[in-house]
Amino acid sequence: MKITELSTAYAKVHLPAKIALVATQKPDNGYNLITVEWFMRTSIQPPMFAISIGHNRFTHECLEEHRFFNLIFPSVEMKQLCAFSGSNSGKDVDKFAETDTKYIPGKLNKLPIPTEALAAFECEVTSQIRSGDHTIYIGEVKYSWVNAAKEPLIYQRKV
Ligand SMILES: Cc1cc2nc3c(=O)[nH]c(=O)nc-3n(C[C@H](O)[C@H](O)[C@H](O)COP(=O)(O)O)c2cc1C
Repeated sequence: MKITELSTAYAKVHLPAKIALVATQKPDNGYNLITVEWFMRTSIQPPMFAISIGHNRFTHECLEEHRFFNLIFPSVEMKQLCAFSGSNSGKDVDKFAETDTKYIPGKLNKLPIPTEALAAFECEVTSQIRSGDHTIYIGEVKYSWVNAAKEPLIYQRKV
């Protein structure tokens, strides 16, 4: 073991990563998508997920205004959408229109469930914690969706 730069240590432990998408409602009109790696289950009963969102993300603005999010697990067909949603901001583009992403409205707050998704969890924010330059939003799952016709998650695929 030797002491090193933070970036060198990060590079070593970063991969493989699992990713998901988070759909939120924009402060004015419509919906936004963000690619996230920092998410986790935090409770079995009630079922809960936490997501960590950077303060400069448009998603942060959305969640401060509307206290719901859909945690979406992408199928392999959604690889491009994940790349797009992780490198463009909803401040500049309408990600659903730009990528022609088809979805159905969820039951909780009508937030989008992409039809190509493997699974989705509709969450209501119950608490939040500031964590440096991110906010951890903790949401209780109100409705769960699964798409039996889809392949496993991207990171589970054998290559
Ligand atoms: C693989 C990947 C994982 C990411 N994980 C997160 C994350 O967990 N939290 C976060 O705030 N941003 C994360 N980002 C960055 C956002 O997805 C990116 O800044 C996005 O453009 C923000 O969109 P928004 O401004 O519409 O919210 C990730 C990006 C990629 C490509």
